[in-house]
Amino acid sequence: MRDSRETIAPRAFVAGYPIRHSRSPLIHGCWLEKYGLTGSYQKVSVAPEDFAAFIDLLKQPDSFYCGGNVTIPHKEAACRLADRVDPVAEELGAANTLWLEDGLLHATNTDGLGFVASLDSRRPGWDRLGSAVVLGAGGASRAILQALRDRGLSEIHVVNRTVERARELVDRFGKPLEAHGLDALDALLVDAGLFVNTSSLGMDGTEAPALRFDRMRSDGLVTDIVYVPLKTPFLLQAEKAGLSTVDGLGMLLHQAAPGFQKWFGILPDVTEELRDVVLMDI
Ligand code: ATR
Repeated sequence: MRDSRETIAPRAFVAGYPIRHSRSPLIHGCWLEKYGLTGSYQKVSVAPEDFAAFIDLLKQPDSFYCGGNVTIPHKEAACRLADRVDPVAEELGAANTLWLEDGLLHATNTDGLGFVASLDSRRPGWDRLGSAVVLGAGGASRAILQALRDRGLSEIHVVNRTVERARELVDRFGKPLEAHGLDALDALLVDAGLFVNTSSLGMDGTEAPALRFDRMRSDGLVTDIVYVPLKTPFLLQAEKAGLSTVDGLGMLLHQAAPGFQKWFGILPDVTEELRDVVLMDI
């Protein structure tokens, strides 16, 4: 008997709870259209108590889907429930991309790769800027710290309101990382090359403290993973201080590309046109 997945158009999902605001269907929909592919990508609302059953269904030979993305609050559970977890997701303990291959459910995490690809495309050479200061120690921070370490940055300062969470990340990722509380932030910015906001400060119009970006290297770079609003308070402050900035939209677009390749067979381009389409939705 033929596998039903050979004969039907591939279908992928993004599962989260809540999932209403996800922009991933818009991104994958643009790529499906651009490359003239028959396939689909849809939002699925899966409550935490239903996630294991959802994964069980996905693993069935006649699964409706060929894979998908998972987002909050399922990233850790996806990593536990997959049959094969790659070393990136394994170290993070969290996955955002799942696909079926040879009857097994594979998992990886593309958040860090998306972050790095976004900086590479908008500011080549950013990784030679010296010390990095990363604000925040949540799930997004983890993926970024791993990516910065793997890119070879030799000095990475993790700054968090709850300093214990920053220390846990130092234990997890090792040598180039150092943990600090918020009170160290201004001093750490002196001669820093890269500042990354991974915290929720500034999200959805909330306040963010004024930081001394004028103390950073004059060729320094400030980036924010928050993309609503696109120009976050930290990016506006950095521009005022004459620094270059990279907004968070690129990371969202670039982290989506590897999944698209797994499910639909083409590594898609992240273009200005795609950015503009998603921007209209922000
Ligand atoms: P995510 O998984 O999306 O990264 P998270 O785990 O909720 O989200 O982490 C949010 C980050 O923003 C944390 O580093 C949090 O600091 P704490 O670990 O101390 O909670 C940070 N954050 C949120 N609100 C903050 C605030 N008002 N001031 C400083 N940091 C804040």
